Amino acid sequence: MRVIGGLGELRGLGRPPGSYSNYRDVIETCGPFRDIAITPTLMWRPGRNRVDQLMRVLAGTDPDLAEHGVRTGKLARRLGFEMGMTRAELDRIEASARLHDIGKLLISREILDKPGAPTEPEWVELRRHPRIGFEIVRRRVASKVAQTILTHHERYDGTGYPSGLAGTEIPVEARILQVADAFDAITSVRPYQPAMPVEYAICELTRCAGTQFDPKAVAGIVRLVRHHDRPTARPQPAADAIAV
Ligand SMILES: [Fe+2]
Repeated sequence: MRVIGGLGELRGLGRPPGSYSNYRDVIETCGPFRDIAITPTLMWRPGRNRVDQLMRVLAGTDPDLAEHGVRTGKLARRLGFEMGMTRAELDRIEASARLHDIGKLLISREILDKPGAPTEPEWVELRRHPRIGFEIVRRRVASKVAQTILTHHERYDGTGYPSGLAGTEIPVEARILQVADAFDAITSVRPYQPAMPVEYAICELTRCAGTQFDPKAVAGIVRLVRHHDRPTARPQPAADAIAV
């Protein structure tokens, strides 16, 4: 069994081990992923924001992934606001964006950090992460947040995963998250590519509007960049794909 979190979490709570009586339930929470367990403190710290608690586990295990989540959350919130989403929707979008890749904690480091294209078996493994993230989050945070995490790699043209949803079958919160996720992936340093300029990101997102991305969400981020932000051009060699 792989435990996310750790003894530090348990010690921090200051309770005797016997008080963690619902450990079995924690495992069952993960449904088909029986090898996953989250430290019980995630469920039993009353009054603590559960998104923050999960983010702490993510940051302790994979700081880069957590930072990507925080940046994507801020951007997704701004994009959602630009698209006229309500306050409650914006809160859910930001929470989903912060945690969207938490399922990668269960994917092998070798695959995540591999330079170049994954092999087909590696792709099969990578494609598990939205469903793993869904299972981790669904009973701890609002179910719509978990649904957005589950659908963040669907594509507007129906060729994404895990379910092949298309167009408005994909929750709007996920369609917004997808654009913010791709924008941050392109403009940040990753193991397999350097950070690209904002203008390059806008070109890629526009090129993929209607196929990978909701055109309305792409139009929203173009408005954000054009009207509210000054692109920070950083000279970089060309890349040929949107990172996922
Ligand atoms: Fe992802």
